[in-house]
Amino acid sequence: MRMTVIGCGYLGAVHAACMAELGHEVLGIDVDAAKIEALASGRAPFYEPGLPELLQSAAATGRLKFTTDMSLAADYDVHFIAVGTPQKKGENAADLTYVDAAVASLSQHLTPGSLVVGKSTVPVGTARRLAEAVKAAQPEAELAWNPEFLREGFAVEDTLRPDRIVYGLPDGDGAERAKAQLDEVYAVALGNETPLVTTGYETAELVKVSANAFLATKISFINAIAEIADVTGADVTKIADAIGYDARIGRRFLNAGLGFGGGCLPKDIRAFQARAGELGADQALTFLREVDQINQRRRVRAVDLTRELLDGSLLGKKVAVLGLAFKPESDDIRDSPSLDVATQLRAQGARVVAFDPQAVENAKRLRPELDYAASAAEAAADADAVVVLTEWKEFRDLDPAAFGELVGGKRVLDGRNCLDPEQWRAAGWRYRALGRP
Ligand code: UGA
Repeated sequence: MRMTVIGCGYLGAVHAACMAELGHEVLGIDVDAAKIEALASGRAPFYEPGLPELLQSAAATGRLKFTTDMSLAADYDVHFIAVGTPQKKGENAADLTYVDAAVASLSQHLTPGSLVVGKSTVPVGTARRLAEAVKAAQPEAELAWNPEFLREGFAVEDTLRPDRIVYGLPDGDGAERAKAQLDEVYAVALGNETPLVTTGYETAELVKVSANAFLATKISFINAIAEIADVTGADVTKIADAIGYDARIGRRFLNAGLGFGGGCLPKDIRAFQARAGELGADQALTFLREVDQINQRRRVRAVDLTRELLDGSLLGKKVAVLGLAFKPESDDIRDSPSLDVATQLRAQGARVVAFDPQAVENAKRLRPELDYAASAAEAAADADAVVVLTEWKEFRDLDPAAFGELVGGKRVLDGRNCLDPEQWRAAGWRYRALGRP
């Protein structure tokens, strides 16, 4: 199948490379010339395990190309829209500028029989509006909505072997042809018995935002329980283990700690509330405001606990921050709880020296005022406290005895409940965590 992928960020670059790997002829299109140049020479413009290897192997087959020239889309049959839908400045709603621009620019090059496939996360109702624009430009083209569920850090695996595939198909005659084209795109996954849900536009759009809202709710649920654990001396990690054994609940996404961040969950729950309001159904999602607030409180709690560890004052104290990315195996700092806490610690008078295995360069650009180290050991040198904010494996594996030799004071905040409290205490550390004694 010949396809374009419009928008080559986390979603689009991975999708393009994986589709080429599966045997399709793929053209990645983006307005950012620097990004296109990197991708065309087999370099990933962001950290994603497995992606550089995939870009190189796909490029070697000649099936994966990149361009900034939208007019080349005229030679392709299926067009994936994978551009970002960030939060609007000063509002909860999603900013659809990039989606609208991509569809407008593509529309000029659509040919009869071509299929536009939306992948970006959009407010419900967007697909129907875009389908009209597509039809107006090319009456014999169709639009389908095909949400994406990949996780950063596992993006290649999630794209090659998805949990499920969702098709939001047009009403009427176009549905059958759109489905046949999508079946060809996903032939390998469908051949491996991947569950397929076929539905209309609105349901497909809502599947995606409902999934992210549920995941955010699950995390905030356990973080709310962590608040109760904190005032009762209970251990939230044991509560999560015990309730997680119930198959109806499940243990995944019940890790209490600093909470969720990144380019998806926070802005998606806000955009979902904004859209519900527009639809006159705002009451249905008011609980998501609480989910957001519980999540924000985690950051405040982490700063307070660090202050407590330092006997009531952050002023002039050296704090080693381990972790800046919004989660491990990523260099993404969008709405990162870790970077937020690091910034707050500094604003409240601490001397912050931060390290992250992948995210330092991105963090430096956004927060040049922080000090950065080239390793965990360098950050920890003579520190009065160590705060672990992103649970990279190298931090989980730290040897508390050896690490204790480096610091000025053996005080540690485990912001992700990822260290073994007994081990750290046995090595002489004062250990604090969120929701764990
Ligand atoms: C999320 C969804 O998991 C994907 O399915 C979806 O495709 C993607 O958003 C998207 O909309 O594009 P992602 O943002 O990569 O993926 O990150 P997650 O793995 O969901 O983690 C989100 C945040 O929740 C991270 O900050 C993580 O540290 C935090 N988290 C996760 C917890 O605090 N506790 C947990 O138990 C799990």
